[in-house]
Amino acid sequence: MQCGGWLTLFMLAALIPFITSSRPSVPCRKETFSIKGGSYTVSEDGSIVRYSCPENYYPTVSIRHCVRGIWSPLPNGKKPKCKKITCPDPSGFENGDLEPNSFKYFVNDRIHFSCYSGYEFRGSETRVCQPNGKWSGSTPICGRNSDRCPDPGVPAGTSRTGDEFNIDQKVKYHCIDRLTLIGSKERICLENGQWSGTEPECYADFTYDSPEEAADGFSSSLKANLEVAQQFEEADQYGKKIQVHTGGKMDIYIALDVSGSIDKEDFERAKEVIRTLIEKISYYEVSPNYEILIFATKVVKIVSMSDFKSGQGNNLQNILTKLEEYEHNILKRLFAKGELSGTNIALAYKTILESMVVQERNDKEDFQKTQQIIIMFTDGETNMGGRPKPTVDKIKYLVHEDKLEMYVFGLGEHVHLVDINDLKTDRGNEKFFFKLRNLNDLKETFDKMIDEGTSVALCGLYKEYDDGIQSHKRRRYPWLAMISVIHSKSKISNCMGSLVSPRFILTAAHCFRRGDEPGQIMVKLDSENQGVKVKRYISHPRYNITAKKAFGIPEYYEFDVALIQLEEPVTLSTSLRPICLPCTKETNGALRLSDRDGTCKKHKEILMSGKTVGAAFMSKIEKYQIGEKTITIKQGNLRPACVEDAKRAKTITARNAADIVSDNFLCSGGTEPTVDDVSCKGDSGGATFMVPGSRVIQIGIVSWGVEDLCKGSSKPKSLPHSRDFHTNLFSPDIRSFLQLYLGNESLGTPLTFM
Ligand SMILES: *[C@@H]1O[C@H](CO)[C@@H](O)[C@H](O)[C@H]1NC(C)=O
Ligand SMILES: *[C@@H]1O[C@H](CO)[C@@H](O)[C@H](O)[C@H]1NC(C)=O
Repeated sequence: MQCGGWLTLFMLAALIPFITSSRPSVPCRKETFSIKGGSYTVSEDGSIVRYSCPENYYPTVSIRHCVRGIWSPLPNGKKPKCKKITCPDPSGFENGDLEPNSFKYFVNDRIHFSCYSGYEFRGSETRVCQPNGKWSGSTPICGRNSDRCPDPGVPAGTSRTGDEFNIDQKVKYHCIDRLTLIGSKERICLENGQWSGTEPECYADFTYDSPEEAADGFSSSLKANLEVAQQFEEADQYGKKIQVHTGGKMDIYIALDVSGSIDKEDFERAKEVIRTLIEKISYYEVSPNYEILIFATKVVKIVSMSDFKSGQGNNLQNILTKLEEYEHNILKRLFAKGELSGTNIALAYKTILESMVVQERNDKEDFQKTQQIIIMFTDGETNMGGRPKPTVDKIKYLVHEDKLEMYVFGLGEHVHLVDINDLKTDRGNEKFFFKLRNLNDLKETFDKMIDEGTSVALCGLYKEYDDGIQSHKRRRYPWLAMISVIHSKSKISNCMGSLVSPRFILTAAHCFRRGDEPGQIMVKLDSENQGVKVKRYISHPRYNITAKKAFGIPEYYEFDVALIQLEEPVTLSTSLRPICLPCTKETNGALRLSDRDGTCKKHKEILMSGKTVGAAFMSKIEKYQIGEKTITIKQGNLRPACVEDAKRAKTITARNAADIVSDNFLCSGGTEPTVDDVSCKGDSGGATFMVPGSRVIQIGIVSWGVEDLCKGSSKPKSLPHSRDFHTNLFSPDIRSFLQLYLGNESLGTPLTFM
């Protein structure tokens, strides 16, 4: 096993003269080293001993230094030995059983979790202890879901106090077995039904994030930022990125710890890591500003935020070139003798704070709208300058919480977890701290991160429209489709639809009648274009409007879903983009989930938890004006009353509401807890959507309503019993239909269903 902290690996010949001259070394007394079950290596100059162990074991002591002629003492005087890696104790799991129940769990041990009856399961049913000291999958939780927030569970290794989960109620965590808590010690149930902060994790000294975990976690947070930021940018006619809205500005500060005996190879690799990161970011239609600094006992700016912004030859390409030109031997020029031997993280944050203050003084309004991102790479072995927390707190004070993201990459075993926990952001579902074994793993992390060239096709992105120009409104709803079907005898159905992939539009099956030909279907997407050619339409095979005619339901809307396949795929642009569909991989990013954490279940938890779910659909609210109608979907104990009102539909005589409305429908309308908008005739087939973050996700399709209130107004308010029903995109029967066509590779850009 290769040990060593961030860039503090080995003293290379090239550096020895200047380091040794700054710190005359007194040789240590010869000692006999040994580790039970493992091996050790002594550094070339004899000043460092590293212990290592076979796979799935860790050394109780990993490193010893010779300082001023004395070897660092062994903790408690105990001889080093190799111990088996264990995973944190999962027995805090509540309201269910875990199998097998044992005192300790080692690598490859597997546990199965299940709930007592009356509880609903979330998370991973089976977890395996991994060689990095972490459990696979996500925390298993058995909850009743009767409170405003879902049961936050008891993550492995933690103990929780607080078992009520309504608004403003708190839960507190601490780690047992002397593990270190990363994430939030305290979480509060917020008004939106989500928990504040991040789920806590318990790390042992030997716990690391794998490159996959780090890449997944880092890119899902950063990616979400980039995706949102690019909503505000556009290329001008010369292809240069321009800001079209101040909301999308982004300043990125990158700080790199070069303390200790950084060797040439490490320095090259560190540069490579930064370059990869900047290049990956540039795949997005975003042009952030950068400050890059390296630090040891002092801080050296490779590029400063002010210089970058004033454009003094500091465009991105120049920075990359500049970085390339930083040869290892330049470090020697930048840092005088002895200046590389210490780590002053506090000073690094202080420098960033100062840059931010300058930016804030230059243009306060602009600063407040700019996303501030700090990415710190360190071995965490702070040995001078004091604790960085006070400075970090000042940064937190200067920048609004929503506009600040602080990431920390800790490398090697010296990372002081407790300190680092203070230096990062805590926000739901997202990870801001990563502990990696070494530089190789970090490089791998960035290589795995952010797929290229996918940005324009990203689902659910939209641009704010506030310039009053009608044609720009399209960018707010780039997925919106207007559909007219001219049936025989010149009867016309007007419907709405949503672009879900370059080739498919999702709508309601009842827009079509038996015998309609593709040529009778007009689809208008862009206000500028004259309509797109339809190849065919496909209704759900089980859709049958007359299926229950004999049972008092003259029009039965179960499985009211259809797809329109276009002759040619449309060319995606800022005014023509698909909406996100739940349970697809494409939607993970929109929910700030990594591909690892993203599951259909998780999507449902995030989008559809709580008794009411706020949503919207599009409608012709004035003659030539399309606008949003807002609704609340009724769930849990509010749903039965909503569904029951289906019986009030004029033509329906059936007496059992469940015969009319199955679980394949979502129910909205009524006046409790809010007075909803209700649908009118032309709204059918349109997307029932929500915007959980900054991207639009479709959760249903407008199908039918109990009462037509649209005679006098095109945006009528609901009465207590006027209800609307929406085909539920989470229903397995609906999903499998969508998957059959949208997931089919031979029908053009497929979506990946989970
Ligand atoms: C629709 O349902 C009715 C009543 O069960 C049945 O007679 C008819 O054949 C069905 N139509 C189709 C196309 O399956
Ligand atoms: C995918 O679409 C092609 C072309 O329509 C069809 O031949 C094929 O059977 C479909 N595959 C699946 C798995 O449905």
